[in-house]
Amino acid sequence: MIRVPIARLREHVGETVAVAGWVQTLRLQRAMQFVILRDHTGTVQLTHRRDGGDLERELDGLTVESAVRVTGVVAGNPVVSLGGLEIVPERVSVENRAATPLPIGDSTGPEGRADWRFLDVRRHPAARLVFAVATTVERAMREFAYAEGCTELHTPKLMGTASESGAEVFELGYFGRRAYLAQSPQFYKQMAIAAGIDRVFEIGPVFRAEPSFTSRHATEFTGVDVELAWISGVEDVMDFEERMLAHVLAAVAEAHGAAFRESFGVEVRVPRVPFPRLPLAQALQLSRTDPADSPRADLDPAGERATSAHIAGQTGHEFVFVTEYPASVRPFYHMRPPGEPDLTCSFDLLWRGLEITTGAQREHRYEVLVSQAAEKGLSLEPMRSYLDCFRYGCPPHGGFGLGLGRLLMVLLGLDSIREATFLFRGPNRLSP
Ligand code: 4AD
Ligand code: MG
Repeated sequence: MIRVPIARLREHVGETVAVAGWVQTLRLQRAMQFVILRDHTGTVQLTHRRDGGDLERELDGLTVESAVRVTGVVAGNPVVSLGGLEIVPERVSVENRAATPLPIGDSTGPEGRADWRFLDVRRHPAARLVFAVATTVERAMREFAYAEGCTELHTPKLMGTASESGAEVFELGYFGRRAYLAQSPQFYKQMAIAAGIDRVFEIGPVFRAEPSFTSRHATEFTGVDVELAWISGVEDVMDFEERMLAHVLAAVAEAHGAAFRESFGVEVRVPRVPFPRLPLAQALQLSRTDPADSPRADLDPAGERATSAHIAGQTGHEFVFVTEYPASVRPFYHMRPPGEPDLTCSFDLLWRGLEITTGAQREHRYEVLVSQAAEKGLSLEPMRSYLDCFRYGCPPHGGFGLGLGRLLMVLLGLDSIREATFLFRGPNRLSP
């Protein structure tokens, strides 16, 4: 007999069906035995009148969270609160009995829940919705990128030299020498541009050895990276990203709009394009509460929130591209506008006050790139294979990196990136 998802039982009233799932609640009374069974789609009540038989003994022996298969007749019963349906079981088989007591309960704190993440996720449909939404987000991103002519790559995460800068890199032993975990696919996606791949797209792991304990930092996260050749300027990169996000949010609204309403009481809003743009200097002005404060070079989290609040107030938009970052706070490979050596052709994308993306036009002229690296005090030798990409005909190009966990956090209104990740990695968490 084929297994019927619990959410679809209504189509089978009066029939004998098979369902499979976990025991959520047991109410074993004197005359009646009630079991609430949960699968990945919903919950249903099993109702059995005691009769001294095998089934009665089987039900008496159940434990909460045991994995069971049930065969029984679907019956309409208006007094049952779970959709007015119940199953009158004929056979129950325990596939895997849950030990007692359960290691977590309703009062368990965040660390204990993280220790038992599989049980925590299983018990909370809203936690599982996160991964269903993430799947839709990734699918929509791929759809968009393919339609725009991107080639999907998987660049190495093991590197012989640290990417971008040495500070936030994990080091590991590698057959008697050192290797590093990639902090970004940055150098490799640019190498792909030099390889004549016109547009590059990658979704993959990113490693950051940052001892940050905030709600938005992980030491391993999923990065979405795009790199586009032959651009006319950084505007082309922002144009690609805003259209991609509008497509993604339309897909999320279509696939999960109802679930969002039910689980979170919010509507998925598809943003208008273009997104507002605001030069960093103006964003810094807005977020400077005390004029006596010394001017900042970059936005802090409070500044990001103030910038988004200002834009939302003025335009009603939840997204804002902050542009024209000074060269002092940007990597050496960001291009600088002609005649403005202190600025970069770069942006951050803020969504409801959180940075979800950094992007830029890259410097593709070898001499300029080398002098910008030297200006930042970087040694060129370890970057030789990267720099060589710019000596044999590299086209103008630019791209961005987006943190998937950050995007999901804002989209679902989660308090922490931990909830947007199946198994979080932070300075204090390497297991499970
Ligand atoms: O801003 P980041 O560091 O930029 C880069 O990696 C550049 N190579 C991108 C480029 O193409 N210019 O990282 C990109 C994004 C951030 O905007 C943020 O969303 C996310 O990655 N991110 C993190 N997410 C979780 N935990 C962390 N520790 C993160 N660090 C960055
Ligand atoms: Mg950034």
